[in-house]
Amino acid sequence: MPIAIVSDIHSNLEALSVVLAKCDELGVSEIRCLGDVIGYGPDPVAVADIAIERFSVSLMGNHEEALVTGKHRFNPYAAQAIDWTRSQLRGGSNAITKMFSRTAPDRLAWFSERKPFELLDNHLLVHGSIYDPVHDYVDEPENPVEAEQMIETLERDFAGFDLCFAGHNHTPFMATRIGTLFPHDAHNTFVLPKGHKAYVCVGSVGQPRDNDPRASFATIDGDRITFHRLAYDIATTQAKILAAGLHEFLAERLGEGI
Ligand SMILES: [Fe+2]
Repeated sequence: MPIAIVSDIHSNLEALSVVLAKCDELGVSEIRCLGDVIGYGPDPVAVADIAIERFSVSLMGNHEEALVTGKHRFNPYAAQAIDWTRSQLRGGSNAITKMFSRTAPDRLAWFSERKPFELLDNHLLVHGSIYDPVHDYVDEPENPVEAEQMIETLERDFAGFDLCFAGHNHTPFMATRIGTLFPHDAHNTFVLPKGHKAYVCVGSVGQPRDNDPRASFATIDGDRITFHRLAYDIATTQAKILAAGLHEFLAERLGEGI
């Protein structure tokens, strides 16, 4: 049975819902999340509750870290959104709401307990990179020097695991020793023989940034990795972002996939 790997949901309930429906259709045995369940988006409570209930793994992303520590280097849009997210997860600032939320799961405590990485089945799971699992970005090599550096990384530093699944860059691709592979609708499944080293960047469920606004995630079934793109009701998410008082840029970018 395939395993689903998701990342960067960013409180986008509409995007997560279509991904969960696809996971059910595929019969995945478990869903592993690489972090950034919350931040930016309008449904942190509903999305957190799904993460708590359905994900077998859910890592510490930089937005979880900002949520629970208050420390970050975010731009103003992200900073406002994480403060708003914290207030929502606490049950709002209203005293009556707080009273009724006492029986709710302590979502902030759950987020504070997230691990920065997991090593499972010869796979390293991180939000960022193998060098800094929470903050660093895996960038797609853009010239021969960067391509060589990526090969060095894979050959020298992928020790004790073959594949590293990463999020954070919101862009689906695989960096392998023979080059960078970008999935597209006509070719979205790749076979990686045992022992082949690669970064598998699964893209973002709730805020893709590769100029394709559809939700992105991956599944792995033996040596086959499949990248999935799914359309969802972006207009509803955008309307909720504006209604919550979050910055309009956070709504606009969803429509463009940037
Ligand atoms: Fe993210």
